[in-house]
Amino acid sequence: MLLEKMLQSQGFGSRKHCQQLIKNGAVTIMGETQTNPKFAIKIAPETVLQFSVYGQNYQYREKVYIALHKPQGYECSHQATHHFSVFDLFDDVLLNRGLQCVGRLDQDTTGLLLLTDDGQFLQALTHPKKHVAKVYAMHTADPINATQIQQLEQGVALRNESGTFAATEVQQLAEHELQMTIHQGVYHQVKRMLAAVGNKVEQLHRQQVGALNLTDLALDVGEWMYLSPEHVELAKSRME
Ligand code: URA
Repeated sequence: MLLEKMLQSQGFGSRKHCQQLIKNGAVTIMGETQTNPKFAIKIAPETVLQFSVYGQNYQYREKVYIALHKPQGYECSHQATHHFSVFDLFDDVLLNRGLQCVGRLDQDTTGLLLLTDDGQFLQALTHPKKHVAKVYAMHTADPINATQIQQLEQGVALRNESGTFAATEVQQLAEHELQMTIHQGVYHQVKRMLAAVGNKVEQLHRQQVGALNLTDLALDVGEWMYLSPEHVELAKSRME
């Protein structure tokens, strides 16, 4: 791949801008300054290609897969109106690649949020027919009772949605603490399911997507990391 094209693919702006960066001597490849935009780079899947732009180090990634421990008060939209945007947490180089949220969490929901520029991955995890398991923990306004758990397991109807919505692995952790797994992803699903059984979600946290668990990633609130190919497989691994 030509160096100018490689830089462009990694989010460094237009082809022209990338050519200029290279001509200005701003770019090193595996530690060596390279001023020829047409320099041909070999990208082998098993080797890590390191480069730098104005002294900042980067690694070539064909696609990016990111896990964010989403804080409260951040919206999953580019044009956030009343809160911060989760995209504020990423630099322009990543944003230029067309980073998208894999599904949405409400602004007040915390926990595991995946982001990617891989349209196929995004589609695989969010397509309504794919039913990726998502584990949520919540604090409820009222004590949780056995009837509510049974109703959640059996499935509840949600206004303007067809069919019923059931949770699996419903576990009461304390009087007001519940964990459950859902397999669809309709708007405000967990909050609406709890409202349908006569309770109210006061705090919501996503713990897991597929078999990818936030605790195993050891991310503090607001921190993010690149996912390895193994992580990506884990995220995809609990689809029905
Ligand atoms: N369900 C909700 O109600 N909100 C979320 O953020 C995620 C799932």
